[in-house]
Amino acid sequence: MIQSEYKIIQNFLSQSCGIVLGESKQYLVKNRLGRLLAKFDFDSFSELANAIQANSSLSSKVKVAVVDAMTTNETFWFRDDMQFLELKEKIFPDLFEKKTGTVKVWSAACSSGQEPYTVSMCAEEANKKIGKNRSVQIIGTDISETILMEAKEAVYSELALSRGLDVQNKNQFFHKTHDGYKLNADISRNVRFQQFNLLKPFSVLGRFDVIFCRNVLIYFSDAMKVDILTRMANSLEPGGYLFLSSTEAMPPSIKAFEPVRERRARYFKKVL
Ligand SMILES: C[S@@+](CC[C@H](N)C(=O)[O-])C[C@H]1O[C@@H](n2cnc3c(N)ncnc32)[C@H](O)[C@@H]1O
Repeated sequence: MIQSEYKIIQNFLSQSCGIVLGESKQYLVKNRLGRLLAKFDFDSFSELANAIQANSSLSSKVKVAVVDAMTTNETFWFRDDMQFLELKEKIFPDLFEKKTGTVKVWSAACSSGQEPYTVSMCAEEANKKIGKNRSVQIIGTDISETILMEAKEAVYSELALSRGLDVQNKNQFFHKTHDGYKLNADISRNVRFQQFNLLKPFSVLGRFDVIFCRNVLIYFSDAMKVDILTRMANSLEPGGYLFLSSTEAMPPSIKAFEPVRERRARYFKKVL
């Protein structure tokens, strides 16, 4: 792949989904996009780069496939487990007490569904603990249609379940089917999925009590991070909560949140 082709791919990814690729990532692009050459019958990266720049139905399909191939979908159950303990034992019980209507949660880059489904498990447990049946609606969004198809299916392999779930949770929330383990309907029915690009306006999604935006902003530029987090603050109800991953920092220019440190969990509360 020559430099001009790499530039076209770099520009396309940063403009279409915010992903910033440094100059040292040519090997990654070559590895991940190499298999698309055969899929689309291209002889070279030059043809792939031309297709990205064209305006045709083939071009649209190529662009979707490039985004799918370049996004990292790594995820697992109860990732940053202390955050979920806090959600289950403090945040949901508080919201159930203070709020009358449905509690709304957004998992903003949900990959194959483990994050929003873990939220739903926590909601179920919080309800059980206080002997209530409060309604919690969770929306999982991601830029990738392909990964969302997996999320909607809610069937996972033994290996995928072993990543973060203990035997008790596995038995409690899943049942065995011919092709893996299906999540029980009482957990999956609280979650709906929608294809959504974080670069687009959030107003179509409504407002939320809790937002999870974890392990996605790391791929974006600093300016894009600030923009997305500022807009997320506007999408939160007063006093709402934002979860970044435990290794992600809040940019100092954003004043809409105060940090919360409880037990070993770290998250943010909207000021006001
Ligand atoms: C590493 S996964 C994180 C999954 C989950 N939040 C977690 O922490 O386990 C990152 C996800 O972000 C999605 N993504 C990347 N760019 C995006 C964008 N511009 N809008 C929405 N989702 C995006 C990818 O498709 C991928 O599924």
